[in-house]
Amino acid sequence: MKITVTLIKADIGSIGGHIRTCDVTTDVICQAIDEAHQSGLIIDYKIWNAGDDSEILMTHTRGVDDEKIHKTAFDALMKGAENAKERGLYGAGQDILKEAFSGNVRGMGPGVAEMEFEERPAEPFVVFTADKTAPGAYNYPIYRVFADPFNTAGLVIDPKMHDGFIFEVFDIKNDKMVKMETPAETYDLLALIGSTEDYVIKRVYSKDESRGIGAVISTEKLYAVAGKYVGKDDPAAIVRAQSGFPATGEVLEGFALGHLVTGWMRGSHNGPLMPVPLHYSQCTRFDGPPRVTGLAFSMKNGVLTEPLDVFDDPAWDLTRDQCLYVMDYMRRHGPFEPHRLPPSSMEYTTLPNVLKKLQNRFKPIK
Ligand code: F6R
Ligand code: MG
Ligand code: MG
Repeated sequence: MKITVTLIKADIGSIGGHIRTCDVTTDVICQAIDEAHQSGLIIDYKIWNAGDDSEILMTHTRGVDDEKIHKTAFDALMKGAENAKERGLYGAGQDILKEAFSGNVRGMGPGVAEMEFEERPAEPFVVFTADKTAPGAYNYPIYRVFADPFNTAGLVIDPKMHDGFIFEVFDIKNDKMVKMETPAETYDLLALIGSTEDYVIKRVYSKDESRGIGAVISTEKLYAVAGKYVGKDDPAAIVRAQSGFPATGEVLEGFALGHLVTGWMRGSHNGPLMPVPLHYSQCTRFDGPPRVTGLAFSMKNGVLTEPLDVFDDPAWDLTRDQCLYVMDYMRRHGPFEPHRLPPSSMEYTTLPNVLKKLQNRFKPIK
């Protein structure tokens, strides 16, 4: 049976600043999605938050980019945004950039990660949702999970994975994409995706066509959509696991470093990506640090099990401690790079005004 898993997310307002979504608003979204569930449009759903972002996961049989599915999520987010505005939540409706729906949510503000595949007899997958960071944040873990044998033992010892995977990479600034295969093109792939602000991994496929897609990442750049800064994307990723894909433990292992990502305060800083359980998904330290949550599911005919909060485990404490150490170290750089991002990546800047003010005082260096 072909199932589509769709994750649509947006920041529609939060409590006390850009910290965490509000339960009352989340209930409004739940109610709207539940109606679609009752009507039979979607098979199952789950709603949660990553910091100040509302996440809507839906399963159905309508394929990717389906107008009805996207509109259902968009309308639910609009209702949530209305409620957030009425109740004075901060940044209410900030990711709803257009009100008139046409076709699908791409270009309208919300982020989307979705994949269609032939459901296996048992279908384990993990949904990652991040806050205070950008889509390139997943380049490092997804590369390690699907291409690095020092992370994923299966690449070396599992005959079903030994041939490697196919990576689809987006050049987000030029609206182009390229497919590359590992291990043959590993070095070329790294030459691109090491540049996380320019090239982002969009999808990963198994080389066995019957297995199909293994991962998808939301890549909407809000600034490109809006023409000005309206917040980092706070991206989501869906990763299928086991039986020819990396084991769930190998998938999670990709997040064990607490690697540095762009985002954090005012979308203009580098900081460690801290894996946290849902109850720690609120960004309170310098609006961060950037964090990622992970929910693992099993699924049968599109019906989801309850989610497993995969980072709710002391096995992640050391990663979190290291993130906190790195967070503090980075913070002490204050307004200096590499804590602050270079001018081309900052989402808030006073630099043009400062340069204008000083234009007559700049003299040639002798
Ligand atoms: C980063 C983020 C926050 C805000 C910051 C300033 O993605 O959402 O760090 O950029 O709190 O917010 P404003 O400009 O709304 O006061
Ligand atoms: Mg926000
Ligand atoms: Mg956010």
